[in-house]
Amino acid sequence: MTPRTQSQPPLLGRTALVTGASRGLGRAIAEALSTAGAAVALVARDEARLQEVAAGIRAHGGRAEVFVADVSDEAAVRSLGVEYQKRFGDRCDILVNNAGINIRKPLVEFSLEEWNRVLDSNLTSVFLMCREFVPRMTGHGYGRILNLTSMMSHISLPGRTAYSSSKTALLGLNRALALELAPEGITVVGISPGVCDTEINTPLMQNPELRESILSRIPVGRFGQPPEIAALAVHLCREESGFITGTDIVIDGGWTAQ
Ligand SMILES: NC(=O)c1ccc[n+]([C@@H]2O[C@H](COP(=O)([O-])OP(=O)(O)OC[C@H]3O[C@@H](n4cnc5c(N)ncnc54)[C@H](OP(=O)(O)O)[C@@H]3O)[C@@H](O)[C@H]2O)c1
Repeated sequence: MTPRTQSQPPLLGRTALVTGASRGLGRAIAEALSTAGAAVALVARDEARLQEVAAGIRAHGGRAEVFVADVSDEAAVRSLGVEYQKRFGDRCDILVNNAGINIRKPLVEFSLEEWNRVLDSNLTSVFLMCREFVPRMTGHGYGRILNLTSMMSHISLPGRTAYSSSKTALLGLNRALALELAPEGITVVGISPGVCDTEINTPLMQNPELRESILSRIPVGRFGQPPEIAALAVHLCREESGFITGTDIVIDGGWTAQ
């Protein structure tokens, strides 16, 4: 990468792949990385929504490419790698594993299929994506892997056995992978949001009592907003953040401080 001047965006010349970029936190992260100068690969299953995000980025002069893929599916991730190569070549600087789902109910009501769906979507997808894209990150002295963990990686609530299990396991993946990749200048960091205003929380937001009860537990008195998570992601991608690795950053309005 050519040295940049003070006035240049911090991620100019970088390529970033963001999973779950069709909405919510992933969308905000992709938009913020683009504003910071990166060319972005947008990945999710809903093509129409991805195209809408891409159009918005292009309207602001950024480069965005759409890739439709189920990141929990091994063959789909392999095909994604092939498609990515055609459009971006063999280099990926930033990988944001953001795609994820939640199924909330008591453990005894989980089918094995539901349990596996949560683990596959939130944990195995990260393994598959890292295995596919780490080879495109090595050899350049810079790389960033940001994995969306959760406040539920650190504390939990009833009905979150599958989700908490998947997100807590990611802490271990992040630590081990950070150690593997540290000599390459590739950092691996978890971002643990608290409760944010996105579709994953629709079941909570649509229940007025539940919404108020959750809100009352957030010390700052409001839900997190996607641009707040995105700003942290951009910060972690800067050259100056190369000493932050193998750790997890909680951004939860103070919930876990209680
Ligand atoms: N919002 C919160 O309060 C919060 C708190 C802590 C952690 N997180 C984590 O932050 C991440 C983003 O959450 P969000 O709030 O933005 O959720 P969201 O609004 O429900 O968005 C989830 C995104 O993931 C994509 N996705 C899900 N499964 C996928 C799969 N198998 N393959 C490809 N894409 C998939 C969805 O796109 P398609 O449906 O188009 O595929 C969508 O773009 C998740 O990992 C979540 O667990 C969120």
